[in-house]
Amino acid sequence: MKKIFTTFIILVLLSTTMPCIAQNLKTESKMKVLLLNGSPHEKGCTYTALSEVAKSLNEEGIETEIIWVAKTEIASCTACDFCFKTGKCVFDDIVNQVAEKAKNVDAFIFGSPVYYSGINGAMVSFLNRLFRSASANLAYKPGAAVVSARRAGTTATLEQLNQYFTINNMPVVSSQYWNMVHGNTPEEVMQDKEGLQIMRTLGHNMAWLLKSIEAGKKAGINIPEKEEIRERTNYIR
Ligand SMILES: Cc1cc2nc3c(=O)[nH]c(=O)nc-3n(C[C@H](O)[C@H](O)[C@H](O)COP(=O)(O)O)c2cc1C
Repeated sequence: MKKIFTTFIILVLLSTTMPCIAQNLKTESKMKVLLLNGSPHEKGCTYTALSEVAKSLNEEGIETEIIWVAKTEIASCTACDFCFKTGKCVFDDIVNQVAEKAKNVDAFIFGSPVYYSGINGAMVSFLNRLFRSASANLAYKPGAAVVSARRAGTTATLEQLNQYFTINNMPVVSSQYWNMVHGNTPEEVMQDKEGLQIMRTLGHNMAWLLKSIEAGKKAGINIPEKEEIRERTNYIR
């Protein structure tokens, strides 16, 4: 009888503690970063840089997914405001697919090749429509930008990419230097030893921030409360 009672107590204890342990493990393993490659080249220089960031995130136990957003032509925003009424972009393509995925990921890395000292066209169209239609799915999640260039225009392009994070309550993750690689081909990027190290550091820095946010949540630190009324003055007094 005593043996049965002891077994019963052990079973009760296990059934109450195991889900908590499982829950904690699940939370850790669920952390995921979405890396968006805006280049028309699926496995070009931008992809090479993003892969290096992904590698160090994976080393930290964080899941990653690289999405080639410029796989097909991307329509630009027509300012139709369909998304304001429906929560979805009127063009039902990769933008809506990423918007849906964004709900369940923890951070984002935007990668673009430098085109005439700015973001490439497909990526601009993609980001304009994503932020116009689904900014709430990205808000309060860390973001980082990565650029690839043959030679110049990198810092201007980085600044352009960072504007999306900083208009949307997203903490921006940095590295030991501005997040850029140099090369015209993936092989050339692989020779940019400093660029690759910048990418690895970026991955580790993002993992550190994600783990800190997770620890904060467990300690009861939540997203800041917004003011009740959102002001939009359009510079009219
Ligand atoms: C239309 C166009 C414009 C470009 N403009 C620049 C530029 O302003 N500065 C630069 O260094 N490289 C420029 N490049 C080169 C690419 O930025 C560079 O090769 C990049 O690493 C390619 O990345 P990807 O393989 O991911 O497409 C340009 C390339 C194209 C096709």
